[in-house]
Order: sequence, then structure tokens, then C-alpha cells
Amino acid sequence: MPTPHINAQLGDFAKVVLMPGDPKRAKWVADTFLHDVKEVTNVRGMLGFTGLTANNKRISVMASGMGLPSIGIYSHELFNYYGVDIIIRIGTCGSYQKECDLGDIILAQAACTDSNWPAQFELAGGTLSAVSDFELLVESKKAADARGFKSHVGAVVSSDVFYDPNPHSWEKWASLGVLAVEMEAYGLFISAQRSGKKAMAICTVSDSFINKRELSAEERQTGLVNMVQTAIDVAEKHV
Ligand code: HPA
Repeated sequence: MPTPHINAQLGDFAKVVLMPGDPKRAKWVADTFLHDVKEVTNVRGMLGFTGLTANNKRISVMASGMGLPSIGIYSHELFNYYGVDIIIRIGTCGSYQKECDLGDIILAQAACTDSNWPAQFELAGGTLSAVSDFELLVESKKAADARGFKSHVGAVVSSDVFYDPNPHSWEKWASLGVLAVEMEAYGLFISAQRSGKKAMAICTVSDSFINKRELSAEERQTGLVNMVQTAIDVAEKHV
């Protein structure tokens, strides 16, 4: 049963998987928000866990690594070989808009990209739009609102470049209304669309391109907890 990148058995994953980029964050989510946890995969240290939420709903959390190819591989294997129906990315992002403050939650309605990774899926020279699942998007907004977390719905850009040699390239995306930059949503959304499955991306603003600020360690922790709680509220509706 194991795939090239996941050494779990069929049935080890729940139908819904939360997906942070960082394997240590996957472990932190499992340790902090789940009980009766089992580690189900650890190939390349890309840890995955399955456990029960406080409301005894069975969900999984697995890391994606960084970038479109990495999340593309793991999400493809989960959707196509492990019976996973929904993946919710939980990550951090850099804000491009002044109304998107540090610690706010960005709910990705769509993802743009500067990557060439999607070229392999394009037909007749067209451009494939990467969108989140509408039902998951609406549920995410309702969950964030119900808990009083400030959130913004809109497009993110999933960039291949963290250390951009051009200090102004973000301004182009910002002028087109893109809310924030991260590195994986586009890959996840296309993977779900290809597989006939559902995906969502919920990100905490960890830094701002507007005022060059970053979250303090304490603010980061609160922001991450709010994001994970929102994602769990949505996940619990589907298991
Ligand atoms: N760039 C890309 N990904 C990110 C950033 C960023 O500035 N901040 C958080 N994730």
C-alpha cells in the first residue's frame, strides 16, 4: 500500500486532512488539538498523524513541505491512494494589503501563481484557474466569524520565490487585489481539481509587505491557534 512518499496503510488517514507546510507544526497540531493520536507516515520526515478532535471527530494532519511540487505530490497521493476527500491547508502568508493585518486569517477563494508547475495541466494554451471549494470557503468564513476571528476572503499568490531579487514584484500582485503571498495553495487547489476532490487554504498573516512588520512569537502562536481552530471547525462538518 505505501506510495513513494507516504508509508501509511489504507485507512490510516481520515477523510479530512489538515496540511501545514512544516512537519513540526503537523506534530504540534496533533499534540495540541487531537487525542488518541497515531503517527501514520514519516517518509522524509514529512510527518502525518490521525487522531480525534475534542468533539471526538477523526481527522488527520500531515505536512506538505514547501512549494507547489511538494504539496502537489503529497496531496495527489492522499486524494488518489488514501481515500482522502478534503485537504485544508493551514499555513502562514505575507500580507500585500493594508487591511490584512498581522494575525488576521486569509481565506483563499482562489490562488494565482508565478510558477511554471501548472503548465503541465494546461490545455490548448489556456490558463487554469485554481479555486478553493465553495462550500469549504463559506464554512470557513462562518467558522472564523462565529469565533470572532478577523478574516478576509480573496485571492492569494502561491510563489516559487521567497528571496525575490526584485523588491517591487509584489506590488504588481497587490495592485491586482491579491491579498497575500504564500507558496502552496495553487498546487493544492489544482491537485484537488484534478482528482475530483475538495480543498481549502486558511492562512495566518505572519508578515506584512506594507509595513515590513512580522508577528512576535506570542502573536504568531495566537494567530496559529485561531487558524487551526477555524480549520478544525470546518473539518468536523465532513467526518
Ligand atoms: N513569502 C512566501 N511565503 C510566505 C511569506 C512570504 O513572505 N510569509 C509567509 N509565507
